[in-house]
Amino acid sequence: MSFWNRRRPWVAAAAQRADGASQLKRSLSWPHLVALGVGGIVGTGIYTLTGEAAALAGPAAMLSFVIAGIVCACAALAYAEMSTMIPVAGSAYTYTYTVIGEGWAWIVGWSLILEYTLVCSVVAVGWGGYASGLIRQAGWPVPEVLLTAPANGGLVDLPAVLIALAVAGLLTLGTRESARINLVLVLVKLAALAAFVALCLPAFDVAHFTPFMPHGFAAHEVDGVKVGVIAAASIIFFAFYGFDTISTASEEAENPGRDLTIGIVGSMLLCTLIYMAVAASAIGAQPVDTFAGSGEPLAQILRALGHPGAAVAIGAAAVIALPTVIMAFMYGQSRVFFAMARDGLLPRRLAAVHATRGTPVAVTVLTGVIAATLAGFMPLARIVALANAGTLCAFIATAAAMAILRLREPQRPRRFRTPLWPLVALLAIAGCLYLFASLPGETIRFFFVWNALGLAVYLLYARHLSRLAPI
Ligand code: ALA
Repeated sequence: MSFWNRRRPWVAAAAQRADGASQLKRSLSWPHLVALGVGGIVGTGIYTLTGEAAALAGPAAMLSFVIAGIVCACAALAYAEMSTMIPVAGSAYTYTYTVIGEGWAWIVGWSLILEYTLVCSVVAVGWGGYASGLIRQAGWPVPEVLLTAPANGGLVDLPAVLIALAVAGLLTLGTRESARINLVLVLVKLAALAAFVALCLPAFDVAHFTPFMPHGFAAHEVDGVKVGVIAAASIIFFAFYGFDTISTASEEAENPGRDLTIGIVGSMLLCTLIYMAVAASAIGAQPVDTFAGSGEPLAQILRALGHPGAAVAIGAAAVIALPTVIMAFMYGQSRVFFAMARDGLLPRRLAAVHATRGTPVAVTVLTGVIAATLAGFMPLARIVALANAGTLCAFIATAAAMAILRLREPQRPRRFRTPLWPLVALLAIAGCLYLFASLPGETIRFFFVWNALGLAVYLLYARHLSRLAPI
């Protein structure tokens, strides 16, 4: 078998449990996992990208939400099936390694690193924006150059750096503690969204939904920008993912069969319902043009409706809540590094787990430092699309792994079975490919450059260090 196809043995999953040095503590139950999922899903996407989707699709942004939600729901089912069959750290990377082969797994792992790091950085910058606003309003004497990234004429976006490092520090203290704090913050952001919907409903006007599809359905370029319902779906897709970070916590679930299924499918469905309510309320309350492209669409709508206090409150909720998204993705990132290092594809020192806390401290700190550096110094305006590209790759791999395994080993025990699996797998794979193709052209090009670089690292370095490499 060539290195490209060599597969991680199934028994290794069980054997790893006996390997004390590389074992994570089983400390999470399903409420923690639903909270971790919602913590990862509800964030910058619904709080800020709603305006972006409206700019690209008009009132039909509602449809964009539905399409992105259906594709993500199909992928979520594949994740539930795979994560209960292979409840070890690493998510799509580990499923691909076990079912398809090492070369493909490397590409998926490399794409996940791109996804997780960029999401942490983007959300940290989003948080930094809100935090800087509060600092300015409070009149604190912080020099402007320390609140602004170099691309915008400053020195460093210090709040973004600090929040990324703070979340990394929290994660190194221990999984359960972090998950508990996460639960409280999740409730804050859900309460803010519920208040938004309640305040918008009295102003609901169906006339705001016509013309429904001013930019058409399929993605097409107008003045160098891809518009249309599908172009908006490929961006608003950002708002839906995060449930996949739960599957990276599978080694820490108390009862993987029950907890992971409820965690993944439950958090996905809950968020889809919330988004539909928020998007319908926003579009119904105000003409789309008034908030399309806004950096703070929900607050802007509330101000336009005559609720300035509520607008400040929803901004404050975003500042309080966005760190949960960074937490979920940084957590997932550290586990992907952990899994790749444990398999020998990255330096094995990264897999070391702290003796009493049971958390991989070194890799969490490394992830935090990289995400903080990118957040502080990089211009991130277009990075949402790039994070989506990495995620779409991981979703395709997971659905493909599920389908291949169903065909190859139909009798293998499954604690969760995806209903209508051929249709679900097809919808997940075809849907993700369609969204990928609808991303901005420069994003698609960068994604391939990133993976070409990754393949070079794999061929020159990682495949020789793999635990499966011939000695
Ligand atoms: N779904 C996450 C968010 O919207 C990435 O922030």
